[in-house]
Amino acid sequence: MLTGDKVRIRAIERRDLENAVRWINDPEVTRYLTMAGPISSVAEEKWIEAAARGDSPNDRHFTMETLDGEYLGQIGLHGIDWRHRHATAGIVIGAKEHWGNGYGTDAMRTLLRHAFDTLNLHKVVLTAYSDNRRAIRSYEKCGYKVVGVMKEHRFTGGRYHDEVMMEVLADEFRRLVPDRPA
Ligand SMILES: CC(C)(COP(=O)(O)OP(=O)(O)OC[C@H]1O[C@@H](n2cnc3c(N)ncnc32)[C@H](O)[C@@H]1OP(=O)(O)O)[C@@H](O)C(=O)NCCC(=O)NCCS
Repeated sequence: MLTGDKVRIRAIERRDLENAVRWINDPEVTRYLTMAGPISSVAEEKWIEAAARGDSPNDRHFTMETLDGEYLGQIGLHGIDWRHRHATAGIVIGAKEHWGNGYGTDAMRTLLRHAFDTLNLHKVVLTAYSDNRRAIRSYEKCGYKVVGVMKEHRFTGGRYHDEVMMEVLADEFRRLVPDRPA
């Protein structure tokens, strides 16, 4: 269990299926994600089972919830490179009524603390649609910096979109985000 100021990050469990199915086919939630639905509950169940079992040693998928235990969504580290010590982060608050309340920023900071202080990663990267201003702002508050733009990299809604590449080094994160007391 990873605890932040506003959120808790825990292992994915089978019981998360019902909440996940509620948002995976909601275009407002998935608009900025790479997945292209519709996704069946059978496919989602399979994904959750694999994530919960930890089938891939280089991926860490988690569930985010409020400190009261209310489901928020999913967060994780993907493609962990144990030699070069970097990974790609991903986050989605499926419970969209909770957008803009600081949960995403706190969850990402909590994930980064885990990445740097427990997994001993050196750098975490991610990408975002360049018009996903809320996500980019939230990532900047975690120490991520834009390091490049991939022009017309994603195709959604009948047109191409630019994608920004962001990254944060362990030292930069530690300078920006203070330690939580143990
Ligand atoms: C992206 C996401 C994880 C962010 O989490 P969140 O809890 O909504 O964000 P937070 O409240 O922590 O922070 C948002 C920040 O962006 C700012 N913001 C919101 N809309 C904005 C906009 N249009 N332009 C600029 N800044 C904006 C907020 O004011 C806040 O900054 P502040 O605290 O300095 O005021 C969440 O909104 C989400 O899951 N969205 C849908 C899926 C998605 O886009 N995932 C990311 C894919 S890369």
